[in-house]
Amino acid sequence: MRRLSGSRASSDRAATTRRRRIAVLALFVGVVAACSSPPPETATGPELYSELCSSCHGVGLEGDVGPPLGVGSPSATLPDSYLVTSIRRGIGTMPSFNHLSDDQVSRLITFLRDVQSGP
Ligand code: HEC
Repeated sequence: MRRLSGSRASSDRAATTRRRRIAVLALFVGVVAACSSPPPETATGPELYSELCSSCHGVGLEGDVGPPLGVGSPSATLPDSYLVTSIRRGIGTMPSFNHLSDDQVSRLITFLRDVQSGP
Protein backbone atom coordinates (compact mmCIF):
# COMPACT_ATOMS: atom_id res chain seq x y z
CA MET A 1 0.00 0.00 0.00
CA ARG A 2 2.76 2.39 0.97
CA ARG A 3 4.71 1.51 -2.15
CA LEU A 4 1.66 2.09 -4.29
CA SER A 5 0.97 5.59 -2.92
CA GLY A 6 4.69 6.37 -3.17
CA SER A 7 4.75 5.44 -6.80
CA ARG A 8 1.56 7.40 -7.48
CA ALA A 9 3.17 10.48 -5.91
CA SER A 10 6.21 10.11 -8.08
CA SER A 11 4.12 9.66 -11.22
CA ASP A 12 2.17 12.83 -10.23
CA ARG A 13 5.48 14.57 -9.95
CA ALA A 14 6.53 13.28 -13.35
CA ALA A 15 3.25 14.53 -14.84
CA THR A 16 3.76 17.96 -13.25
CA THR A 17 7.29 18.14 -14.63
CA ARG A 18 5.99 17.15 -18.06
CA ARG A 19 3.28 19.83 -17.93
CA ARG A 20 5.88 22.43 -16.89
CA ARG A 21 8.14 21.38 -19.76
CA ILE A 22 5.26 21.74 -22.20
CA ALA A 23 4.38 25.18 -20.80
CA VAL A 24 7.99 26.36 -21.08
CA LEU A 25 8.21 24.97 -24.61
CA ALA A 26 4.96 26.71 -25.61
CA LEU A 27 6.24 29.99 -24.19
CA PHE A 28 9.53 29.60 -26.05
CA VAL A 29 7.81 28.81 -29.35
CA GLY A 30 5.51 31.83 -28.85
CA VAL A 31 8.43 34.18 -28.21
CA VAL A 32 10.36 32.86 -31.20
CA ALA A 33 7.28 33.16 -33.43
CA ALA A 34 6.66 36.73 -32.23
CA CYS A 35 10.29 37.66 -32.87
CA SER A 36 10.72 35.98 -36.20
CA SER A 37 7.43 36.51 -38.04
CA PRO A 38 8.52 39.20 -40.45
CA PRO A 39 6.47 42.40 -40.54
CA PRO A 40 5.11 43.34 -43.97
CA GLU A 41 7.84 44.75 -46.23
CA THR A 42 5.84 47.96 -46.66
CA ALA A 43 5.39 48.58 -42.91
CA THR A 44 6.17 52.20 -42.01
CA GLY A 45 8.76 53.24 -39.39
CA PRO A 46 6.11 53.90 -36.71
CA GLU A 47 4.42 50.55 -37.48
CA LEU A 48 7.72 48.68 -37.24
CA TYR A 49 8.59 50.45 -34.01
CA SER A 50 5.25 49.79 -32.39
CA GLU A 51 5.24 46.13 -33.44
CA LEU A 52 8.86 45.27 -32.66
CA CYS A 53 10.33 47.76 -30.24
CA SER A 54 7.70 49.53 -28.16
CA SER A 55 7.23 46.62 -25.74
CA CYS A 56 10.77 47.19 -24.43
CA HIS A 57 11.53 50.82 -25.28
CA GLY A 58 8.09 52.30 -24.48
CA VAL A 59 5.33 53.47 -26.81
CA GLY A 60 6.75 57.01 -26.81
CA LEU A 61 10.43 55.89 -26.81
CA GLU A 62 10.57 56.84 -23.13
CA GLY A 63 12.26 53.55 -22.21
CA ASP A 64 11.10 50.58 -20.16
CA VAL A 65 13.07 47.32 -20.05
CA GLY A 66 15.30 48.91 -22.70
CA PRO A 67 16.82 52.38 -22.47
CA PRO A 68 14.98 55.49 -23.71
CA LEU A 69 15.53 56.23 -27.41
CA GLY A 70 13.80 59.60 -27.72
CA VAL A 71 14.70 63.27 -27.21
CA GLY A 72 17.76 63.72 -24.99
CA SER A 73 18.55 59.99 -24.84
CA PRO A 74 22.04 58.64 -25.53
CA SER A 75 20.75 57.24 -28.84
CA ALA A 76 19.93 60.74 -30.03
CA THR A 77 23.66 61.54 -30.10
CA LEU A 78 24.86 58.14 -31.32
CA PRO A 79 25.60 57.67 -35.03
CA ASP A 80 23.22 55.80 -37.35
CA SER A 81 25.81 53.03 -37.69
CA TYR A 82 25.55 52.31 -33.94
CA LEU A 83 21.75 52.10 -34.15
CA VAL A 84 21.90 49.85 -37.21
CA THR A 85 24.35 47.50 -35.50
CA SER A 86 22.27 47.39 -32.29
CA ILE A 87 19.17 46.51 -34.30
CA ARG A 88 20.83 44.03 -36.64
CA ARG A 89 22.99 42.20 -34.08
CA GLY A 90 21.12 42.90 -30.86
CA ILE A 91 22.90 44.34 -27.86
CA GLY A 92 23.08 42.99 -24.30
CA THR A 93 19.70 41.35 -23.65
CA MET A 94 18.11 42.96 -26.71
CA PRO A 95 17.42 40.36 -29.41
CA SER A 96 18.78 40.80 -32.92
CA PHE A 97 16.44 41.88 -35.71
CA ASN A 98 18.44 40.54 -38.58
CA HIS A 99 15.35 39.44 -40.50
CA LEU A 100 14.47 43.06 -41.33
CA SER A 101 15.33 44.40 -44.77
CA ASP A 102 17.75 47.34 -45.13
CA ASP A 103 14.77 49.52 -46.05
CA GLN A 104 12.88 48.51 -42.93
CA VAL A 105 15.90 49.28 -40.72
CA SER A 106 16.37 52.66 -42.35
CA ARG A 107 12.64 53.45 -41.96
CA LEU A 108 12.96 52.59 -38.26
CA ILE A 109 15.95 54.89 -37.89
CA THR A 110 14.21 57.70 -39.75
CA PHE A 111 11.34 57.32 -37.29
CA LEU A 112 13.71 57.40 -34.27
CA ARG A 113 15.46 60.51 -35.66
CA ASP A 114 12.07 62.19 -36.25
CA VAL A 115 11.03 61.66 -32.65
CA GLN A 116 14.49 62.63 -31.36
CA SER A 117 14.39 65.93 -33.22
CA GLY A 118 11.47 66.92 -30.97
CA PRO A 119 8.03 68.33 -31.71
C1 HEC B 1 13.20 42.43 -25.56
C2 HEC B 1 13.36 43.84 -25.33
C3 HEC B 1 13.84 44.70 -26.47
C4 HEC B 1 13.30 44.82 -27.73
C5 HEC B 1 12.10 44.07 -28.32
C6 HEC B 1 14.07 45.83 -28.40
N1 HEC B 1 15.05 46.30 -27.58
FE1 HEC B 1 16.44 47.70 -28.03
N2 HEC B 1 17.34 47.39 -26.27
C7 HEC B 1 16.89 46.57 -25.26
C8 HEC B 1 17.84 46.62 -24.15
C9 HEC B 1 17.70 45.86 -22.83
C10 HEC B 1 18.88 47.47 -24.55
C11 HEC B 1 20.14 47.85 -23.75
C12 HEC B 1 21.16 46.77 -24.02
C13 HEC B 1 22.47 47.01 -23.33
O1 HEC B 1 23.06 48.10 -23.51
O2 HEC B 1 22.91 46.10 -22.63
C14 HEC B 1 18.53 47.95 -25.89
C15 HEC B 1 19.31 48.84 -26.61
C16 HEC B 1 18.92 49.43 -27.79
C17 HEC B 1 19.67 50.47 -28.49
C18 HEC B 1 20.98 51.09 -28.02
C19 HEC B 1 20.61 52.23 -27.08
C20 HEC B 1 21.76 52.79 -26.31
O3 HEC B 1 21.55 53.83 -25.66
O4 HEC B 1 22.86 52.19 -26.31
C21 HEC B 1 18.94 50.80 -29.59
C22 HEC B 1 19.28 51.87 -30.63
C23 HEC B 1 17.77 49.96 -29.61
N3 HEC B 1 17.80 49.14 -28.49
C24 HEC B 1 16.79 50.02 -30.57
C25 HEC B 1 15.77 49.08 -30.67
C26 HEC B 1 14.87 49.00 -31.80
C27 HEC B 1 14.85 49.98 -32.98
C28 HEC B 1 14.06 47.94 -31.56
C29 HEC B 1 12.99 47.38 -32.46
C30 HEC B 1 13.44 46.91 -33.76
C31 HEC B 1 14.43 47.36 -30.29
N4 HEC B 1 15.48 48.08 -29.79
C32 HEC B 1 13.81 46.27 -29.70
C33 HEC B 1 15.74 45.82 -25.28
C34 HEC B 1 14.95 45.64 -26.39
